[in-house]
Amino acid sequence: MFAVTAARIDADNPLNGLELGERPEPTVPEGWTTVTVKATALNHHDVWTLRGVGIREDRLPIILGCDAAGIDEDGNEVIVHSVIGDPDRGGGDETLDPKRSLLSESYDGTFADRVAVPRRNLVPKPASLSFAEAACLPTAWLTAYRMLFDKAGVQPGSTILVQGAGGGVATALTALGAAAGYRVWATSRSEDKRKSALELGADQVFETGARLPERVDAVMETVGQATWGHSLKSLRPGGRIVVSGATSGQLPPAELNRVFFLQLSVVGSTMGTRDQLVRLARFLDRTGVRPRIDRTLPLEQAREGFAAMAEGDLFGKIVFTR
Ligand SMILES: NC(=O)c1ccc[n+]([C@@H]2O[C@H](COP(=O)([O-])OP(=O)(O)OC[C@H]3O[C@@H](n4cnc5c(N)ncnc54)[C@H](OP(=O)(O)O)[C@@H]3O)[C@@H](O)[C@H]2O)c1
Repeated sequence: MFAVTAARIDADNPLNGLELGERPEPTVPEGWTTVTVKATALNHHDVWTLRGVGIREDRLPIILGCDAAGIDEDGNEVIVHSVIGDPDRGGGDETLDPKRSLLSESYDGTFADRVAVPRRNLVPKPASLSFAEAACLPTAWLTAYRMLFDKAGVQPGSTILVQGAGGGVATALTALGAAAGYRVWATSRSEDKRKSALELGADQVFETGARLPERVDAVMETVGQATWGHSLKSLRPGGRIVVSGATSGQLPPAELNRVFFLQLSVVGSTMGTRDQLVRLARFLDRTGVRPRIDRTLPLEQAREGFAAMAEGDLFGKIVFTR
């Protein structure tokens, strides 16, 4: 079958390790099943893998891709939950299973004609979502859903700041937050992306690092080092940063004085449970909110999508179709 594979690690030029071509059909362990992939979406995770972050070199070659929407063995339209974990080992939450992985970390991923997944990882795709839209949900949109509605500890009407408005997670945060009645403020390095964030439902937009009109209740961080200081400064006393990514670097100054003096909270967040994915799909079905798709490409042209993401040249999700 056709697949997009990480064959080598190159921290500086991640696209060097990308290979497109024939791979063996998936092997299907007991309790697992296969999905014929109709659409899949690119995440920064795929670029990190090519850079050697979060993967062991001895696991290569591995098929990339965390996200998929497709057809199961019984002909049902499904979304694939990407977290391979045992809820029992995680105290009822598979993302907290110490042995959990995402597709494309230990097991082959979704950038292929077919992907093998545990049966419990299939979620019905609402008929109102296209395969391309549904393919955006399992990683970026699920992460945003959990950050906002599980981890942020704010109520509708609160003000939240989304750093790096153009990203896949960030566009999901803006659209979901606006639909849920939050006042969403967003930052971006690009004027075009700031305008697009307003179209998505942001209430106000700012240049990266700009002083805000007032302090916010919570900050949604995926950028990391480049925006961390601004995130800390932008919080009201008692406010909370929810962090799920560090695209620009993971070692900003901690500014501990600010954290304790203003009684700030820093909360980590990763992916979401299968139940949260079900609720996210229902939220989109009920509200009409849809993922912002930057571009849709045939999987054979995946290299173009990877290049755009590595350059930061996108607004929303890059979707690959079969
Ligand atoms: N923990 C999890 O479960 C989870 C899930 C999904 C993603 N993530 C992580 O979250 C991050 C975002 O993922 P994604 O898929 O949304 O990536 P993405 O679509 O590539 O978005 C990255 C965004 O970060 C901003 N950015 C990058 N470098 C910057 C810099 N130097 N200064 C300011 N802004 C910068 C950009 O925003 P502007 O161009 O608008 O400024 C860019 O659009 C990644 O690090 C990813 O690994 C984690």
